[in-house]
Amino acid sequence: MYNLLEKQYESDSMTNITSGVVGKMSMKLLNDRASPLSQLWTRIQTSFEELWPNQFSFHQNDNPIVSVKQNFDELLIPHHHPSRSRNESYYLNRHLMLRTHMTAHERELMRQGFKRFLIAGDVYRRDEIDRTHFPAFHQVEGVSILSLKELSNHSANFLHNSADANVIKLIDKACEAGQLEHDDRGLLKMALLDLHSKIDGLLRKLFGNVDIRWQETYFPFTQPSLEAEVFYKDRWVEVLGCGILKTSIVQAPLQEDGKIDHIAWAFGIGLERIAMILHDIPDIRLFWSHDRRFKDQFVGGNNSLHPSGHPVKFVPFSKYPPINRDISFFIPSQSDFHPNNLYEIVREIASDLVEDVKLVMGP
Ligand code: PHE
Repeated sequence: MYNLLEKQYESDSMTNITSGVVGKMSMKLLNDRASPLSQLWTRIQTSFEELWPNQFSFHQNDNPIVSVKQNFDELLIPHHHPSRSRNESYYLNRHLMLRTHMTAHERELMRQGFKRFLIAGDVYRRDEIDRTHFPAFHQVEGVSILSLKELSNHSANFLHNSADANVIKLIDKACEAGQLEHDDRGLLKMALLDLHSKIDGLLRKLFGNVDIRWQETYFPFTQPSLEAEVFYKDRWVEVLGCGILKTSIVQAPLQEDGKIDHIAWAFGIGLERIAMILHDIPDIRLFWSHDRRFKDQFVGGNNSLHPSGHPVKFVPFSKYPPINRDISFFIPSQSDFHPNNLYEIVREIASDLVEDVKLVMGP
């Protein structure tokens, strides 16, 4: 047995939660008005309201402890999937874990009757150590359940016509693939176009005029699955994953004759990446900083926007140049070494001071 945030948990062979990550769990950055993350979450909500008034409900879940069933089993994530490993996720014990994505909350909201919603929260993954990876980060998940009737009736004007020829080609291709659960490809295409128009609308609200690239990808709970990247400082940055939810995941009433009368899409967007791009924040660890010189740069603004409407740009505050101190360790060639375990030790001992840990293969 052990104590975690004033509650008792049974420990077992899966338990691998560390004090470092527990410290992050109590920070609740989405409730901190000075955090660019909470400001971004507010901007996402106002963008949805402006673009599609009264269509979506907004939720936030501040308790990242979920069951393994919720995070993995119910989302059809196979037993051998790497994300289930103790090397990748934080377990309280065999049954409970820190959510690795906000997808873990989709089913409960659908069961409560919500059809179109966004939900934000903190998520946790054991990860590498560098400027863009941190074991705790934030996601907003969006879901929309579309009735087939609605899709076929509204078709043309229901869609804000944002898809260019490349996107339409990609969506057509994604709808052609075999073993799709919805056999009406036409309606599937409409649902994907609706998903695309929502995400495209949101990204353009956030970034203004930006290059967006879409491609097909894989998630166990969606089919087809797509991801979107935005072009920033000479490279493409992945900002979200999305797709059509598999039918067993969608929690919505069936027709009287037992037929499925809806298609649902979902997306998951990472807040840190977007805030880093918008505000030129060079290191993901800054979001967790208690230093007023970070936070004070974002307070007072209108949702971190200048009166001009442009995002506030972060100004580095240290008067000292960075120092490099390299430390190397050698590992025997025959070992079951997993880098995430070393990262965890580094974090426990040096908290967030270590910039980068790299595994270099010898000759
Ligand atoms: N949960 C996925 C992730 O964290 C993102 C996603 C959400 C993909 C919804 C598809 C649909 O990477």
